[in-house]
Amino acid sequence: MTALLDVRNLTKHFPVRKGWLIEREVGRVRAVDGVSFTIQRGETLALVGESGCGKSTTGRLVLRLIEPTSGEVRLDGEVLADLSGEALRRLRRRMQIVFQDPYASLNPRLTVGDTIAEPLLLHGVGSTAAERRLKVAELLGLVGLRAEHARRYPHEFSGGQRQRVGIARALAAGPDLIVADEPVSALDLSIRAQVVNLLADLRQRLGLSYLFISHDLAVVRHLADRTAVMYLGRIVELAETAQLFARPRHPYTRALLSAALPPQPGRQRPPVALEGDVPSPLNPPSGCAFHPRCPLADARCRQEAPAMVDGVACHHADAQAALPMPPRVGNERLHRLHQFFRTATQSATSSV
Ligand SMILES: Nc1ncnc2c1ncn2[C@@H]1O[C@H](COP(=O)(O)OP(=O)(O)OP(=O)(O)O)[C@@H](O)[C@H]1O
Ligand code: SF4
Ligand SMILES: [Mg+2]
Repeated sequence: MTALLDVRNLTKHFPVRKGWLIEREVGRVRAVDGVSFTIQRGETLALVGESGCGKSTTGRLVLRLIEPTSGEVRLDGEVLADLSGEALRRLRRRMQIVFQDPYASLNPRLTVGDTIAEPLLLHGVGSTAAERRLKVAELLGLVGLRAEHARRYPHEFSGGQRQRVGIARALAAGPDLIVADEPVSALDLSIRAQVVNLLADLRQRLGLSYLFISHDLAVVRHLADRTAVMYLGRIVELAETAQLFARPRHPYTRALLSAALPPQPGRQRPPVALEGDVPSPLNPPSGCAFHPRCPLADARCRQEAPAMVDGVACHHADAQAALPMPPRVGNERLHRLHQFFRTATQSATSSV
């Protein structure tokens, strides 16, 4: 079966230039460096990793908001780079984005109704203003807001409500895939859970697929079917979310999960502590890029970049199985969030 989204060997290197009169290229930021993954219909794939590892750049490449250095993105088998004009517009309509900061992404001078009607006009949904008004009301209802909210301006809404408007705007074009880039990071815990539940509900009702970019491992564990872990522009592990959390196979995944746990007296020391900063993507380490921070690194790791085999890129992935597993990601904050997930309801518009 053809995957809804098929990303192959995607690479984005940003040139770094210096010089005042005569500019010359002095290096390249390897923001995304040969990333491959698929997303099936109705599936949620999470992208996780430390700041600067290339998550947002990957999302922007998928939506073709920026051009790749090399590699390919296919939607339903169609190569995006091969399309232009009407064909590209038609395909673009099927992929939309939800941003982290709904306030920054909404025009403060437009009412919420006009904000949502904009993509309807752009994509020719509804032939009259009355039809578009009906559609706007329908979209507002879908995200748990009321039709009369259409007359208000973004500043009249709370953070959670604004994110609901952002989601309604993304849904206006009738997409199959939503790239959600840290869509709940700016929200309080309880509101965060409600918006995550809304995303899960919309996925089920509309058959949506998500590329879900997040730092928040608790949210990822709750929402994602599969999870890809990125380090310095590459995917180092990609697995079913439950399996990845229960039995991480890459030392970096293990470290990331351990880092989500606060130190507690009596608790076993995490099997891998994540120490040191992420190296610069301008000048990544030789061999396996994780080797300066990896306790298992040996001479081979310093010279030879590991290939992705069975969802993990590590020369010593098998040795991981012998190590004790990190404690479950379930610290107090995450536990509270999970409580919210269980109890939060999406309706309660006024409380958001
Ligand atoms: N337009 C650009 N020009 C040069 N470098 C860029 C550009 N956009 C991103 N980068 C660099 O590419 C790397 C990846 O950035 P990206 O924003 O994709 O990371 P991220 O994983 O989304 O980080 P965060 O979690 O902080 O949002 C970073 O080193 C960043 O500085
Ligand atoms: S390849 Fe070597 S350095 Fe890289 S993660 Fe595996 S063990 Fe660590
Ligand atoms: Mg980002």
